[in-house]
Amino acid sequence: MPEPLNPADPAFARDPYPAYARLREQAPVARVALANGTHAWLVTGHEQARAVLADPRFSNVPAPGAGRPKPDSPAQRARGCLARHMLNSDAPDHLRLRRLTTAAFTPRRVDALRPRIERLTDGLLAGLSARLELDGGADLVDAFAFPLPVLVIGEVLGVPEADRAELREWTYRVGSPADALVEGAVDEAWVRLHAYFSALIARKRRAPGEDLFSALVHDASEGGLDDGELLAMAFLLLFAGYETTMNLLASASLSLLEHPAELAAAREGGPERWAAVVEEVLRHASPLEGTTWRRTTAAVDLGGEGVIPAGDSVLVVLAAANRDPAHFPEPDAFRPDRHLTGADRAAPHLAFGHGPHFCLGARLARLEAAVALPRLFAAFPGLALAADPQRLPYRPGLLVRGPRRLPVTLR
Ligand code: HEM
Repeated sequence: MPEPLNPADPAFARDPYPAYARLREQAPVARVALANGTHAWLVTGHEQARAVLADPRFSNVPAPGAGRPKPDSPAQRARGCLARHMLNSDAPDHLRLRRLTTAAFTPRRVDALRPRIERLTDGLLAGLSARLELDGGADLVDAFAFPLPVLVIGEVLGVPEADRAELREWTYRVGSPADALVEGAVDEAWVRLHAYFSALIARKRRAPGEDLFSALVHDASEGGLDDGELLAMAFLLLFAGYETTMNLLASASLSLLEHPAELAAAREGGPERWAAVVEEVLRHASPLEGTTWRRTTAAVDLGGEGVIPAGDSVLVVLAAANRDPAHFPEPDAFRPDRHLTGADRAAPHLAFGHGPHFCLGARLARLEAAVALPRLFAAFPGLALAADPQRLPYRPGLLVRGPRRLPVTLR
């Protein structure tokens, strides 16, 4: 009997890859015992992950009453409203929401954010410089990787600059386990986010801005989104866009500091080389470790991999699929050159998912990284790690992965 998988184990959170490799070798789709006493199907093979993500028999709608029952409260009601978003929906609802959102998220609108992202990055780097000078060291997550995505989502949603510090604080709280903060802090943040987004939508209805969210508020095609759908959408954009991009920026910084030859090559190689670094970080340190949970609506026969009964929970582990040796030779090596145009270019990674729920913010996330990383390393040529990379803390769980802290100094 193999040991149950323990996502709360800090050693697993830091380096889950050996466990995923063992699972994949045994069976790329397997019913796994978890340390909390439950069982779930984990998909760790690349081919199987693509198949599951494209198969409508795997539903994204959370099971009624999923999770521990919680007493009714304003925070519970706020949570309930904000969670009714398109990532938690199936066709045909999902198709309608997705069509309307894609119409607002045009490549032209996303690319137009570049100068704003440059300005926000430079502001954060000025703050980082002051901190490094004053204290001799800083946390790159706190000073750079966390605030940048939240500020950029502020641009997307058209949140006034004066409100962004609060947005940052509430976002941090709702993403934290309830027992990690003072009692009531997480609940208060849910209620405040709900009230803030309700007021924001009312404002955008009266006076649309240039931002992408205003385009969504005012799109009347197919009847447009109603206020409840807009509320959940604002929350989804904030939530889907911040911790993922934070992990991308933090893991990219860490990988480059650990691989000075790759950093030098990126510095010399220009945009194509930086783009290859970003793709390799997405593959090698997938910021979303697993997709959202799926549930089978019917028994699914996976051929050689057995049958998943109806009603079972399934998690596609993107981090594992992206290290499948059948698709990526030397999967554990950090090798940006595998993404350069050339004869043996790597197979596409699955870091942004696949199928109907493929990440809507992929272009924006890539743009943020392409702007921010070269600027960070140009501003601080002597940037160096100030901690043992083997001891950095990672958030426990199977869903997101990236260092929580990244102490740096100047050499
Ligand atoms: C490195 C950064 C990011 C990564 C790795 C990432 C990854 C993903 C993945 C894997 C999914 C599919 C989840 C599933 O099938 O269960 C997804 C969905 C989504 N992402 Fe991202 N994401 C990133 C950044 C962003 C940003 C910046 C935004 C928006 C501003 C965004 C918005 C969304 C939305 C709205 C969905 C739901 C799409 C749907 O249900 O049709 N993401 N993302």
